[in-house]
Amino acid sequence: MKLRGAGAPRCIAIYCRKAGIEGIYAMKSLVYAVSLASALAVSSASVGAKQVPQALSSHPVPAVQDTETPAQRNARMAWWRQARFGMFIHWGLYAVPAGIWQGKPVNGIGEWIMYNAKIPVADYKKLASQFDPTKFDAHAWVALAKAAGMKYIVITAKHHDGFAMFDSKANPFNIVDATPFKRDPLKELAKEAQKQGIKLGFYYSQDQDWTAPGGAAMTYDKLHDGHWDKAQQGNFAEYLHTKAIPQLKELLSNYQPSPAIIWFDTPTAEMTPQLASEIVKLLNQHPNLIWNNRLGGGYQGDTETPEQNVPAQGYPGRDWETCMTINDTWGYKSTDTNFKSTQELLRTLVDVASKGGNLLLNVGPDAQGVIPAPEAERLQAIGKWLDVNGESIYGTGPTPFPGDHGKFSTTEKTVGDNKPKWMPAWDWRATTRPGKIYIHLLTWPGKAFHLANVTVPVKQAYFLADPKHRPLSYTQTGTALDLQLPGKPLDPNDTVVVLKTD
Ligand code: GLC
Repeated sequence: MKLRGAGAPRCIAIYCRKAGIEGIYAMKSLVYAVSLASALAVSSASVGAKQVPQALSSHPVPAVQDTETPAQRNARMAWWRQARFGMFIHWGLYAVPAGIWQGKPVNGIGEWIMYNAKIPVADYKKLASQFDPTKFDAHAWVALAKAAGMKYIVITAKHHDGFAMFDSKANPFNIVDATPFKRDPLKELAKEAQKQGIKLGFYYSQDQDWTAPGGAAMTYDKLHDGHWDKAQQGNFAEYLHTKAIPQLKELLSNYQPSPAIIWFDTPTAEMTPQLASEIVKLLNQHPNLIWNNRLGGGYQGDTETPEQNVPAQGYPGRDWETCMTINDTWGYKSTDTNFKSTQELLRTLVDVASKGGNLLLNVGPDAQGVIPAPEAERLQAIGKWLDVNGESIYGTGPTPFPGDHGKFSTTEKTVGDNKPKWMPAWDWRATTRPGKIYIHLLTWPGKAFHLANVTVPVKQAYFLADPKHRPLSYTQTGTALDLQLPGKPLDPNDTVVVLKTD
């Protein structure tokens, strides 16, 4: 058995790889040139239509991104671009210890407790017998996503700990065979999501698997193997062929409707282009499937996935999705009560949409199957705002106005690729659709608001939240627009002014 240490290429901090990919895209889509006129002129169908960079056809097996035409791609991505807002669900065995192991709190994100506490495989697997989430209610979860204004859900089918949250014939370490619960939550969610008109996707940790022999384990330096238990030693390709690929087959064929998204994670050096191409062969059998940039093996997938941050300019010319926690953990931790405010979360959604991206906002249900109340409350509040202002988010195009609305931090770094973190300024943002510009006033400017670079004549202005759309007074001199406003905002988090241009 070839020990993973010496010489074996190993998962170097994944994010350098991701940085590589970003580098490639930065080069390919250097300039994000959408002039105001063209942004407003384009028909809604092509809002968000993006030039598909000619993918690197060095792939052993061409992926859909390599073969499809821009029109085919725009059709395949249309629902996703329209959606703008989704729910990420991190749920698994790690909800049982909930951040505490042998009476001691374990630092780091909840779903990494096995890794961070170096829990032996045999001990971790014993958690399955304690996992019986009888309060799990697929209807309630999907209804919460719907009430939040979310259009799709991505749930962890298998995370890095290797436990399958679905009925898997490929491996007995799963929720039906190994727990007293014996139900398949993905089956119940698939049915409910279809009933409530929500798209469903599955997160699958294809490389890292801390309980399967041969599964990868993250390492931060070349000197140390990421594994901590002999039971983890094995051959990566064998792990892929006997567990990961068979389980991906199950996830892609055992659920009706079949998943709309596969969300890969933490690609490692073990995932060679050859091995990745075996997974791509499987994905190609599902031509409408959307999958992200975290498969590895040189495949860039459909979407960039910045984590816990919103890039300064987004990813011009590329589909992208910020994934973010409501507190500081993805998987449930009983001790983590550092919940972001509804205002910060809503503003983040607006910030992401104003840069042409999607927001995948996470919830971490507990071991009973209950979504923590502080997370549910914030989602319901965002949903209330979207009930009134959804037109300014769903299916919109990015801001036509230059200007960064923020600055790079001199101290904080982004998760993973360690770049200076972008610190947004919460002044205002803009989104567009043909014939309309939506000005999102995140901080009330007082009785007047000045807007520069308005190169098209504005025909009318009104508050989106005002059902009568009573006209607001404004003057437009050249490309300068000055709006007269009442003393108080209609909504302290974000009051939207619609500028009609046709
Ligand atoms: C990171 C974390 C992983 C989490 C993912 C969500 O990769 O390692 O635990 O699931 O981010 O984006």
